[in-house]
Amino acid sequence: MNLISICDIMVKELEEIIRNTKKIKASPRRYKNSLSGKILAMIFEKPSTRTRISFDVAMLQLGGHAIVLKKSDMQLGRGESIGDSARVLSSYVDGVMARVNKHETLVELARNSKIPVINGLSEIEHPCQIISDLFTINEVMGRLKGINIAYVGDGNNVCNSLIPGCAMLGINLTIASPRGYEPSKKILNQGIRISRKLKSRIRIVTDPKTAVRDAEVVYTDVWVSMGDEVGYKRRLNAFRGYQINKKLLGFARPDCKVMHCLPAHRGLEITDDVIDGPNSIVWIQAENRLHTQKAILVKLLNEISVYSSYKSKIILG
Ligand code: CP
Ligand code: NVA
Repeated sequence: MNLISICDIMVKELEEIIRNTKKIKASPRRYKNSLSGKILAMIFEKPSTRTRISFDVAMLQLGGHAIVLKKSDMQLGRGESIGDSARVLSSYVDGVMARVNKHETLVELARNSKIPVINGLSEIEHPCQIISDLFTINEVMGRLKGINIAYVGDGNNVCNSLIPGCAMLGINLTIASPRGYEPSKKILNQGIRISRKLKSRIRIVTDPKTAVRDAEVVYTDVWVSMGDEVGYKRRLNAFRGYQINKKLLGFARPDCKVMHCLPAHRGLEITDDVIDGPNSIVWIQAENRLHTQKAILVKLLNEISVYSSYKSKIILG
């Protein structure tokens, strides 16, 4: 089983991971041998603080071990194929987590692996982040179904995973992005189709004020993701008016919770007074990455391996 897209898991598996995260967070020491002897390889083509450290610590605290690899440290960096690298890794370790420039790299890794492949962020999706965020919302709000979330900002990887995540759990999601920076149309339409079955609503608007009205959770992410640096200034211009600040929160419910996957660019997509203010649950959100990684790893690494016939369940593009 792989976790390349949030759509790789079924609703009941997503709910199971959220339930298990709660148990693991409550009694971490009870799980100290859950992955005894298991080894996770982690490949990074882009920087990371939270994903890298939380996966590393999670493996250690579950009795396993993680090996951190930069692409440039591997023959992969000198042109060895992803397929060949995946076959070799499969004979040494029990799972691979990769943060990649191109989502296709993960798909290719999975096609050639007999071990689980976990997406630690691609330009298309960030499923581990969103699974953890759904746990956080449930922990803080006490429920998920019917919650109103507003995502204000770039229709990026985080937004692309949030859409199916919300759809699968019956959450109402309103996205406010400037024209030209909306999430993938295909992912959005796929999310809308799933949400209809669960009687929730996923919609896209351009006005942030419209999005935050009635929102119980207001979520944002950077305006310039890793790899999107070309056209930086154009982006900053486009996102003017999409900042999560006190003025915008004035249009939301006074008790709404503010989320950001981090790293934040303070003063751009979010102001200091909001990220450090009473509505922010950003630090709980960051801590929960550790607890959720554990639940994800226990689920995936304890499964029996067979050569993967991975077919991407998200429509690329
Ligand atoms: N949110 C997140 O994935 O952070 P890192 O880039 O630090 O891993
Ligand atoms: N959208 C951001 C998320 C960082 C965790 C990026 O891809 O850079």
